[in-house]
Amino acid sequence: MTPYPANIRLQGDGFVLREWTDDDVPAMIATIDEPDIARYTRLASPFDEVAAKTHLEKGRVNRTTGKAIQLAIATDAGALVGTMVLFRTDDEDTGELGYTIAKTARGQGLAARALRVMTAYGYELGYTTLVLRIDEENAASQAVARKAGYHLTDAPPLADDVKGRLATLYQWRHRA
Ligand SMILES: CC(C)(COP(=O)(O)OP(=O)(O)OC[C@H]1O[C@@H](n2cnc3c(N)ncnc32)[C@H](O)[C@@H]1OP(=O)(O)O)[C@@H](O)C(=O)NCCC(=O)NCCS
Repeated sequence: MTPYPANIRLQGDGFVLREWTDDDVPAMIATIDEPDIARYTRLASPFDEVAAKTHLEKGRVNRTTGKAIQLAIATDAGALVGTMVLFRTDDEDTGELGYTIAKTARGQGLAARALRVMTAYGYELGYTTLVLRIDEENAASQAVARKAGYHLTDAPPLADDVKGRLATLYQWRHRA
């Protein structure tokens, strides 16, 4: 697979999507280690120092192997407020996105705005289809998807084991 570009930096309205750095570890833990993120994502729980360092390392490998782009969401003032991921699916024209926002930064439209920026970048990279897989119980993420121009598809939901819990994940697709 073709590696993804290095040093990606995507400017949004009041925030930036940027590469992680080793200095992010403490802020990463503070941003990610909480119950909703544990429940609805594949990020490790507890998300401790070991998990943070593993995540950084995996991000570097995934970029060079063309498997995924893992970015931090930071405010223009520099505060780390979330995560964004875009990964290649089994269908190489289809990219799947995922996102988290720190509990303290929710409800300000950040996730929807960041998702719009990353979706546009996905098309720039050559993907023709961009999708999300959202838990049927995750109303906040469904609202984010709608706001960012995604719609629920009639693809059969996926029953997936998310850290020992059987989750029902519906596919959402961006309308370009
Ligand atoms: C989902 C998540 C990223 C949303 O972040 P955010 O920055 O608060 O999102 P936004 O502010 O852009 O939008 C949130 C929307 O969800 C709605 N919402 C929030 N909590 C809700 C709830 N419990 N039930 C229904 N809607 C809810 C808000 O009203 C808002 O919609 P609106 O603008 O139409 O009013 C954040 O809650 C999160 O990190 N959750 C845990 C990780 C996760 O679920 N990731 C997605 C995996 S698919």
